Amino acid sequence: MVRTLDILVLLILTFLACSNAETITVKVADNALDFNPKNVTARKGDVISFVFVSGKHSLVQSDSPGVCTNSTSLTSLSSGEKSQGETYTYTVNQNDGAIYYFCNYGQHCLGGESGVINVVTGNGGGSGSGSNGKSSASVNVPNSFNFFLLFTITLFFFKSML
Ligand SMILES: *[C@@H]1O[C@H](CO)[C@@H](O)[C@H](O)[C@H]1NC(C)=O
Ligand SMILES: *[C@@H]1O[C@H](CO)[C@@H](O)[C@H](O)[C@H]1NC(C)=O
Repeated sequence: MVRTLDILVLLILTFLACSNAETITVKVADNALDFNPKNVTARKGDVISFVFVSGKHSLVQSDSPGVCTNSTSLTSLSSGEKSQGETYTYTVNQNDGAIYYFCNYGQHCLGGESGVINVVTGNGGGSGSGSNGKSSASVNVPNSFNFFLLFTITLFFFKSML
């Protein structure tokens, strides 16, 4: 008999194996007052890691692309003032749409320091500019199915070893 604890451990391990969250790195002021890449594609749960390469910056969410005014959203992206060598991580917490942001420090935004996180639904990792994501809500169904299948297989494999 497989004990409850074994099943719990397997459930957690299987869940971790199926989780597709990715970390996407965006360099801040890599060469110019800008973001590199300026436009990334991500999915809910992905983490955007903003690495501050030079100078001082403060990232704030806006409501439209290229706009230099704060978003009215209460759950907005906001890094606070960051200097060279620091990192700010933002976890994507929406299923679709776009998250626009800009640098609130000095006149940086007027110089073009603004970017976008393009949120798409589905599985698989996010990636940099230009890549396309699967964009159907139905891809979440096979993911649950895969999870269940993998869990069941692992459970029987585990059981046969006892
Ligand atoms: C970002 O890239 C996506 C996918 O290529 C595109 O649909 C979107 O319009 C771009 N957004 C901006 C603000 O450039
Ligand atoms: C925009 O948001 C930033 C970060 O929360 C804050 O420091 C700044 O004062 C805000 N600007 C305005 C005009 O509300």
